[in-house]
Amino acid sequence: MQQFGVIGLSVMGKNLALNVKNHGFSVSGFSIDKPEVDALAKYEDKDLKPTYTWEEFVNSLEKPRKILIQIMAGKPVDETIHKLLPLLDKGDILIDGGNSNFHDTVRRSRELDAQGIHFIGMGVSGGEEGALNGPALMPGGDEEAYKEVAPILEAMAAKTPTGQPCVGYIGPEGSGHYVKMVHNGIEYGIMQIISEVYDVLRTVGRYSNDEMSEIFANWDKGAAQAYLIEITSKVLKQKDDLTNDHIIDHILNEASYKGTGNWMLEDAIHLGAPITVIAEAVLARFMSKATFRDDPEPKIDPAKAPADLVENLEKALYLAMAVSYTQGFEQMTMAAQAYNWQLHYDTIAQNWEAGCIIRSEMLQDIKSAYRSNPDLKNLFKAPFFDKVKKNNMSALKEIVQIAAEAGIPTPTLSAALNYLESIFNPHLPQNMVQGQRDYFGAHTYQRNDRPGTFHTEWYEEK
Ligand code: 6PG
Repeated sequence: MQQFGVIGLSVMGKNLALNVKNHGFSVSGFSIDKPEVDALAKYEDKDLKPTYTWEEFVNSLEKPRKILIQIMAGKPVDETIHKLLPLLDKGDILIDGGNSNFHDTVRRSRELDAQGIHFIGMGVSGGEEGALNGPALMPGGDEEAYKEVAPILEAMAAKTPTGQPCVGYIGPEGSGHYVKMVHNGIEYGIMQIISEVYDVLRTVGRYSNDEMSEIFANWDKGAAQAYLIEITSKVLKQKDDLTNDHIIDHILNEASYKGTGNWMLEDAIHLGAPITVIAEAVLARFMSKATFRDDPEPKIDPAKAPADLVENLEKALYLAMAVSYTQGFEQMTMAAQAYNWQLHYDTIAQNWEAGCIIRSEMLQDIKSAYRSNPDLKNLFKAPFFDKVKKNNMSALKEIVQIAAEAGIPTPTLSAALNYLESIFNPHLPQNMVQGQRDYFGAHTYQRNDRPGTFHTEWYEEK
């Protein structure tokens, strides 16, 4: 009998199955796509069993069965659960490792709970390579069921620099997939921040691709160390097979998306979460598909680059990245309250320290901030990040200004600056919005000098 089962053997599922096996657990694999099972069969041994029917797969597993569903999110997950249900026994554990929408996970948890089946919605990050060698895992759902699968998940997960597994129980129902959605929103934010920094480097600094590759590689060795910065350096260096130019200069500048970042924005709107950087990053992908390509190229003739351009860009990048993480954590605290979840932000930061796409040195500081104060309202209230803001704010301002003068759009760098200028500002001008609302719609307002709800008779009726 096998200890673990994986359904869906495309590259992610196959690599996760091999990862489990490589850590000393026996695994069965199944897919409705026969060639995928044949591909897994190449690795067959006593600990790895390819199976060709639903029955063969389910019956090969020891009870309670532990089954990871690693397929495309959406309807296929419901269809798979529907196929499995008649073959399962009460107490069996299903894990959905896809990028499922957390609303679907909440619904599935409740439906399966009614049938006596435990359900875990688990975010998996790290791409193909991570799946094989150590992904970051974000499991949410039934806590008792989590304890049953924890030894396998801990063995297969990436490890932090201090050897902690990048997996830990997140919370009930859809919270695991929620945290993965937020991970992806932060990912969108950092990717767009880096892209704007690249634009300033090439346009104002007039650096070559190889020079920029070096600059990013250097940053990756310092405080701003991050996987996304490391791969930026590699993307910039890569030559094209077809032309032998740098491939980056031939990649069409229209960004696609599968939608998890967009979902984060949808829920931010529902919660009223001010995730400005992440929102701008989502919209920047839309913008990249909406720009007019038939118009003449804008004439950009920036003044000579200042001597401290690279130094200031590093500081601006570091601070804007901190804002992207901050907004992600801010939305999670609002979601935890709205959906009645108890989230442990230090564990979430630790889960992201290795294996995932947004892994970075900064996550250790985020973990420490939440360890010192689990009720932290905003990361910039922590002494470490307060200092980051103080040390880097003028550089961020400088870069936004330089970019504006050069005609370079910086939606996320500007959003980061505006966020920091707003979040601690008790004098925002929304008193005017309230005055206008009350003027035209009698929507009422509150006062800053006494409690209660007020309305002004703004004009005399004729
Ligand atoms: C990860 C990635 C992964 C995937 C995204 C890409 O954590 O491993 O986030 O889940 O690369 O889905 O998302 P977009 O296609 O929306 O950019």
